[in-house]
Amino acid sequence: MFLSLIIGALILTLAWDFFRKLQRSAILKRSKITGPPTIPLLGNVLQALNLGPDSYIHVFGDNFNKYGKTFRVWILDECMIYTKDLKYFEAILSSSTLLEKAELYRFIREFLGDGLLLSTGSKWASRRKVLTPAFHYKYLESFVEIMDRNSGILVEKLRKVADENTPVDLSKYVYLAALDVITEAAMGVRVKAQNDPNCAYSKAVKSVASIESNRMSSVTQRYNWLFPLAAPLVYRRLQRNLRIMKDFTNKVIRERRAILERSRADGSYQPLSLEDDNIGRKPKMTLLDILLQATIDNKPLTDVDIREEVETFILAGDDTTTSVVSHALQVISRHPKEQECIYEELLAVLGQDPNTPVTQSQLLDLKYLDCVIKETMRLHPPVPILGRYIPEDLQVGDKTIPGNTSVVLIPYYVYRDPEYFPDPLTFKPERWMNGKEASLASFAYIPFSSGPKNCIGKKFANLEMKTFISKVIRHFELLPLGEELKATYTFVLSSSSGTNVGLRPRKTIK
Ligand code: HEM
Repeated sequence: MFLSLIIGALILTLAWDFFRKLQRSAILKRSKITGPPTIPLLGNVLQALNLGPDSYIHVFGDNFNKYGKTFRVWILDECMIYTKDLKYFEAILSSSTLLEKAELYRFIREFLGDGLLLSTGSKWASRRKVLTPAFHYKYLESFVEIMDRNSGILVEKLRKVADENTPVDLSKYVYLAALDVITEAAMGVRVKAQNDPNCAYSKAVKSVASIESNRMSSVTQRYNWLFPLAAPLVYRRLQRNLRIMKDFTNKVIRERRAILERSRADGSYQPLSLEDDNIGRKPKMTLLDILLQATIDNKPLTDVDIREEVETFILAGDDTTTSVVSHALQVISRHPKEQECIYEELLAVLGQDPNTPVTQSQLLDLKYLDCVIKETMRLHPPVPILGRYIPEDLQVGDKTIPGNTSVVLIPYYVYRDPEYFPDPLTFKPERWMNGKEASLASFAYIPFSSGPKNCIGKKFANLEMKTFISKVIRHFELLPLGEELKATYTFVLSSSSGTNVGLRPRKTIK
């Protein structure tokens, strides 16, 4: 009797599993989209159990080799389509309606809330409209001073370990410098992470980002209901650090709102305006000020609205920039000829004295460095994976993607495809010279994504990357020391072996 009940329940569960996947499976079959073999109920869960940040990206490569440019994976009843086919990139990224992020972003929702990166619909559109002017070149000028000052501190920290013989893992230093820049630009506070790497706030940001990215490749920590049970200590650490971040941001918002209200009361309030020629030189301009003064439908944003946007900027802007700057410096250290070309350009555009502050227009003139950064982002894309949720069936060429599916676009493998980039594994900044980029296939190179939900901080990031890289190379010759890169995926691309270089202080100015 008991056995019959169990067998009956099992048959019912299998039938339920079969029918809830039936429609999607049939469409995939008609579209000839296959993937690794599945088992009933679990799908590909057993294969996923072996995944970790270090294997995640490489497993996609193996699957592309086996199943072609597009393959599917089932995790329980969650259907995911992984692709490096540019037809899918175009159909999805240029759509003005397919804005919802794929399931894999659920891990960042906990700390980014419904900020710009994850929001959709009218909430996203109105916020994006309010925030876009913040990245106008006039506002950006005031951020260059913050970038320059913090790159100076970075160089001083590196000087202490620059002995020409010891490999230095740059990512640790660059991460703190980038955190100092983005927190000051976003909130107007000097967290001074470079001087105090153990301060509660910077440790909390690092810990939250690392726990959430590990969850992505861990089946036991993947589901919100299972996570507190499967890893209670990690769960509690995450909650504690989220609270530290929220308390800190809330305090800064309250203080700046109070300043704004006092200035309105005493008549000294001057609304921010792009018409103001001095705006770039105003010392206290931050992204937070723009949000505090913004109105949507004639209503100011609440503290919660503002906090989710400010935290989105911090988390979207720190690890990404760190990834590119540290990979670029590592790659440059292994390419002496290119390093020489960069240094020549720095002397020509920025002058002989490495301590002279840089300006936005000088940074924009660093054309060769621009090509080096582009080539670094091709070989080591900071955001190697992009995902969207597809609610309804979507026709792409002769294939149909079933509704209720996540599509994961993997530019990492497009950038390594000889069809688009001949000799793809070789570092060649000259690929980007003399407007050659224009002849690339559409969507073949999208480090900042493309379409309506592309990166709002792109210009900010380019200025910051150039400021950091130029400052380091003006002060040090980079030497090819230490372990080579080992790609690992932690929301952004990083290297599990570090991004190692040797540093030789430049003694003479040419
Ligand atoms: C090298 C540095 C950076 C890279 C490569 C990068 C790349 C990207 C990419 C690929 C996206 C789209 C993500 C997706 O669709 O899943 C994105 C979105 C975004 N980025 Fe960046 N980013 C960088 C730096 C920054 C910085 C410095 C900021 C802020 C100052 C920033 C703020 C944002 C925001 C707010 C979004 C969401 C935009 C929206 O959905 O409307 N990013 N970024």
